[in-house]
Amino acid sequence: MSLISSALKRIKPSQTIAISNKARELKAAGRDIIALSAGEPDFDTPENIKEAAIAAIRRGETKYTAVDGIPELKAAICRKFKRENDLDYKPAQVSVGTGGKQVLFNALVATVDAGDEVLIPAPYWVSYPDIVEFCGGKPVPVMTTIEDNFKLRPEVLEAAITPKTKWLIFNSPSNPSGAAYSFDELKAITDVLVKYPQVWILTDDMYEHLVYDDFKFVTPAQVEPRLYNRTLTMNGVSKAYCMTGWRIGYAAGPEALIKAMGTLQSQSTSNPSSIAQWAALEALDGPQDFIAANNKVFKERRDLVVSMLNQAKGLHCPKPEGAFYVFPSCAGTIGKTTPGGVTIATDEDFATQLLEAEGVAVVHGSAFGLGPAFRISYATATSDLEEACRRIQRFCGALN
Ligand SMILES: Cc1ncc(COP(=O)(O)O)c(C=O)c1O
Repeated sequence: MSLISSALKRIKPSQTIAISNKARELKAAGRDIIALSAGEPDFDTPENIKEAAIAAIRRGETKYTAVDGIPELKAAICRKFKRENDLDYKPAQVSVGTGGKQVLFNALVATVDAGDEVLIPAPYWVSYPDIVEFCGGKPVPVMTTIEDNFKLRPEVLEAAITPKTKWLIFNSPSNPSGAAYSFDELKAITDVLVKYPQVWILTDDMYEHLVYDDFKFVTPAQVEPRLYNRTLTMNGVSKAYCMTGWRIGYAAGPEALIKAMGTLQSQSTSNPSSIAQWAALEALDGPQDFIAANNKVFKERRDLVVSMLNQAKGLHCPKPEGAFYVFPSCAGTIGKTTPGGVTIATDEDFATQLLEAEGVAVVHGSAFGLGPAFRISYATATSDLEEACRRIQRFCGALN
């Protein structure tokens, strides 16, 4: 009898975390490494948020709380949805978990039965298909193209829907492509979804605030109110509020689903950290102006990286609307050989040889379900980014 369960055997460790760990190891061993692989802002958590956490500790907010969130935070989340997304939710429609990842995990484990299909536009965040596999469901990648700036075409979505389709996981701005859907682009998608009442929509709005050039963020239940009753709108404080380590994410949706997610959480982690919940409340209710200041820096870095990568031989890098990622194609390098005599057959070879030769860590696109490409996170000091792009140019220029 095997020790490891069949459910666990269906999944693999997160490849983005694996590559970040490898970069960290090489750095510890003394190599000059620039890691562009991590998905977190390099900015610190704002002081007012830290102070709210310290005050919570001093007040003794150090005990178990309601499993899926303190009422004060749920109320703040309802205010956020009204203020920023024009969506009406009651506290009973809100669930708070240990990061967006747990909320997503709860939603899928609570709903996906063996054989259920979950549509996942590719390139996708690495965890979606693995969580679906863990549940015994069938992840169905729905392809996009670089020509469409990695945005889903409505007719491609429609062709992928079957009677077994339970969810569409929608993510805008996207990790890994940075692509974000305008109102009209999203309306074209929701127009398809209204026709298929068995399909639920899990929208991962984690990068909502990280958009540039006056882009206006929209979310499915806002664009198409007829989808409100079968949409789970997920979000969190990790990215925009620079709180990845605090582990608070949340979602709002139909009460029956929220209740089921709470039941699951009550038998796994119970409440997310009491202290982090008070900090998240301050994040949502407190001053928001630092987001625009951070975005100014992110936008400059995006423009720098896109421009420098487009000058590298064999690369083509679209300019995305949001998040802190770019997803250049490396199709022009496939089949070429490094000065050391190694042939680049796949994007994984590209990433491995780049790390080997120039000490720059990126994540290969096929890990996100679409290649040959790679993901760069530009949430890194601008000087490091510039140096990393110079090294990428040198690496590509040396291929023959
Ligand atoms: C698209 C997307 N969704 C969800 C998450 C999870 O966020 P959290 O750190 O709050 O669990 C991430 C984090 O990388 C992400 O990129």
